[in-house]
Amino acid sequence: MGSLTPTLERLIRRLPKVELHLHIEGSLEPEMMFSLAGKHGIALPYASAEEVRKAYAFHDLQSFLDLYYAGCNVLRDKHDFYALAMAYFARAHADRVVHAELFFDPQTHTARGIDIGVVITGLRDAMDDAYRRYGITSDLILCFLRHLSEADAFATLEAAMPYRHELTGVGLDSGERGNPPSKFERVFAKARSVGLRPVAHAGEEGPAAYIREALDLLKLERVDHGVRCDEDPALVDRLVREQIPLTVCPLSNLKLCVVSDLRAHNFATLLRRGVVVTINSDDPAYFGGYIGENYRATAAALDLTAAELVTCAEHAVRASFLPAAQKATLLRNIRSEALHNA
Ligand code: HPA
Ligand code: ZN
Repeated sequence: MGSLTPTLERLIRRLPKVELHLHIEGSLEPEMMFSLAGKHGIALPYASAEEVRKAYAFHDLQSFLDLYYAGCNVLRDKHDFYALAMAYFARAHADRVVHAELFFDPQTHTARGIDIGVVITGLRDAMDDAYRRYGITSDLILCFLRHLSEADAFATLEAAMPYRHELTGVGLDSGERGNPPSKFERVFAKARSVGLRPVAHAGEEGPAAYIREALDLLKLERVDHGVRCDEDPALVDRLVREQIPLTVCPLSNLKLCVVSDLRAHNFATLLRRGVVVTINSDDPAYFGGYIGENYRATAAALDLTAAELVTCAEHAVRASFLPAAQKATLLRNIRSEALHNA
């Protein structure tokens, strides 16, 4: 892998960043897993945080999901969700994240008897404090687990309705293979009817056809991952023509063997082709890097230029669910950082 020039290092450090693909449960660091397990008297199948990290060797999405869902078991009360999100915001602030749209997986918690309100209010308190402490704005996106049924997704949406005003969008995650977007067409229609903005994981492990299906049936505003789009050149044309953003997570793709080597990642090709690609961290505690590290590793592996890195940061602002005025301010701030750095 190539190394970064000091100029690019500085640019990446200083660029104001918007993160659009971050599972808050995927920011649970092993140290916090141990402290919460201790607090609740939960036995972990590991002796130390180091041992947990050693277990993080994945060969596909499912091998990761098994550990990710098991890790969630230590999240029990509102203070746990608050602490989880606050730790993410502190780390994100160090990477100059100025806005983040957080995914959360309520079904992982309600299946363990935890009320959805506990999850949402804990996260919301942290989001409010992150704004006060760091000036970071944030939104919540409720994700349905696609390996569960349509009925379960409908029940989750219903349970979330008392907290409708805390939510910005809905998403779709978990094991993609065999769980096509069509399974959730009706629940997404219902979510859109109450003003929730639709996104979904598609084309991570699943085929390009799932990206098309998600765009056509779920009416997505952006696609999470979407990296398998290049198996269908007409789809890539459409992504460019309609300027549909992809929230790409390069280190995640590497760790889950979606790509064999970052140098073989199609990120730069898609970027140069005119696709609105963005750089994100997905599950940083599991994949070995927060957003800054994703920028650095991608830039080094694919020889991204300063102008291309600035474009990625701008894409994320445009692809966000922020109001136009805040987008304009952030775009100005990115521009001025780029000029300073030139
Ligand atoms: N893909 C699908 N589901 C997930 C992921 C992912 O990368 N991370 C957390 N849940
Ligand atoms: Zn994801």
